[in-house]
Parts: sequence; C-alpha cells; structure tokens
Amino acid sequence: MYKRHRRLRANGAIRDMVRETRISREDFIYPVFVVEGEGIKSEIDGLEGNYHYSVDRLNEFVDSVHFAGIKGVLVFGIPETKDETGKSAWEGSGVVQRAVSKLKELDPELYVITDVCMCQYTDHGHCGILDGDVVDNDKTVEYLSRIALSHAKAGADMVAPSDMMDGRVLAIRETLDKYGYSGVGILSYSAKYASSFYGPFRSAAGSKPQFGDRKTYQMDIGSVREAMDEIAEDVAQGADMVMVKPALSYLDIISKARDRFDVPIVAYNVSGEYAMIKAAGKSGMIDEKRLAMEVLTSIKRAGADLIITYFALEASKWIEEGII
Ligand code: PBG
Repeated sequence: MYKRHRRLRANGAIRDMVRETRISREDFIYPVFVVEGEGIKSEIDGLEGNYHYSVDRLNEFVDSVHFAGIKGVLVFGIPETKDETGKSAWEGSGVVQRAVSKLKELDPELYVITDVCMCQYTDHGHCGILDGDVVDNDKTVEYLSRIALSHAKAGADMVAPSDMMDGRVLAIRETLDKYGYSGVGILSYSAKYASSFYGPFRSAAGSKPQFGDRKTYQMDIGSVREAMDEIAEDVAQGADMVMVKPALSYLDIISKARDRFDVPIVAYNVSGEYAMIKAAGKSGMIDEKRLAMEVLTSIKRAGADLIITYFALEASKWIEEGII
C-alpha cells in the first residue's frame, strides 16, 4: 500500500493546512428586519438571536455587525400599513428607505443590500399586483422598478428583487440607469423555490399570503434546468450577482450554477434552515455550533461565494474560536 489518506488527517495542523474549503466572515451577508416605531429591539420568534429593530436603534445593529466583522447586510422592512398596491414599499419616507439612510449615515462603508418585494407591503400578502387572484407580471415589474429606485435614492449599494416576476432585472436596471444610479448593483433572487423553509421569515415579516400560495411565481422544488434558465436570463438582463434559495436542500443547484456561470453565486440559508438547527440544538440532540458550521461549509463547498445567513454573527465568533 503506498497511498495512505490518513497521513493528511493525522493532526489538527495538517488538517488545517490541507482544508479545501474555508468559511470566513467576508462570506456572510446578515439580514436585518426594520420595523416602524421607536425604541424597539425585540427578539424574533423562531429566529432567536435575531431582532426587529426600529430605525432609531439601528446603531446597536451596526455595532453588532462591526464587532463580528461582517461587511454586508440585507435589509427587510416591515411597514405599519398595507394596501392593495403596497404603497408603503416605495414611499421615500418608508421604513426601508429610512433604515437605509440611517445605516449609511452610521457607517458609509457598510455594504447595504435591500430586498425588493411587495409581500410585506400588500394586504393580500402576494409578491405583486393582483389581477383577480393571480399576480400580474408586467404591472408588478413597473412597481418593482419604482421600489428599487426608492431604495437607490435612499443610498442602497445594491437591490435584491425577490419577487420572481419575469423581466424584472432588465426593468430595474433600465430604471436605475435612467435616474443616474448606474452604480447601484442588482442581486437577483434568480432561483427561488416555492419552499416550505420560509415559515419563520413569513411570521417575522408578516408576509404570509392571505390566500393560495406562491407556486405561480416561485419555482417548483423538483426543477434543475429551469433554475439554470432563470439564472442565465437574469445574467443576460444585467444581474451582478445571482441567488439560489433556499441553500441546504438545493446544494445541487448551487453546484451546477457555479460550474456554468461566472458571476458571484449567493446562497440564502433561509429561516427554516436556521430554525431547525436551533431547535435541534436546544433539545440537545445535536451540537448546534458544529452543525451550523458544517452546514455553512457545505454551502460554500457546493460553490456559493456568499451566504446570506441568520447565523452570521454567531458563526463569525465560532470561526474565531476555531470551531471548524
Ligand atoms: C420575500 C422574501 C421571502 C424570504 C426572503 N424574501 C419569503 C417568501 O418568499 O415567502 C424568505 C427568507 C427566509 O425564509 O429566511 N419574498
């Protein structure tokens, strides 16, 4: 026998030296949920360790992000009022717009990405404008462009449309360019599946659809080629980065996307994936830290360049502690 694989596993030093995949704090994008009101920092049910912040307390959020060494955040707004057309999503005085200005004022270097969607803002909870009981694609795209522009005006570095309408990347790109925001990027939620992993997020954001489901716009969970087609189209329309969402059950999609496309691939380690690990950890069945680090490493190993994760703050600490 001349080949002994175990030589390179003999101790921690050599294992560290030959490790093929490393996660680092630069890989993480940390989501934040901003609510109307004042003086609010309250832990989110089902997403423990993550908080609803009012704009006036975002300094505490920024401090935690600095402490962890995280460079990028993804902002979600939770408005006080909802209506049929999601007006509170694009008003200049809306919660996201104020949050973005505040974050940029607190730290101009923080990379601020905004989620562009309508489900938190519409009274019916769907991701667009309804025509009867279906979401009208082309009309919704006009509204999404308006929302994206309002985020750019507030100072966002990048906008991230998560609605899954067709043609929205091009429409948003054209709108941003037309109004002088050619420097604002687009991270497209390109391959976003109609998943059951979004439960805790929908409670946190108050964005459950009031009737039906999202299957006429989000992707079928069994599709692979369709995801590649979605990504190719978004890249062609001008997306700077593309996303696969959720992450853990979709590592095959991340891996294929990595092989085929040369733009950064972002994976969203979504709320249900986070909540499952937290719950299993709490029950003592698994070692939460190690499992979380294993999951994050697997997402990176599959080919993701960046990971949006509710573990970002803790995982940064665990990296420091040498948990992996
Ligand atoms: C909005 C949106 C959702 C998530 C991110 N943006 C929910 C949905 O599509 O219903 C889910 C994120 C998570 O579960 O962590 N469209």
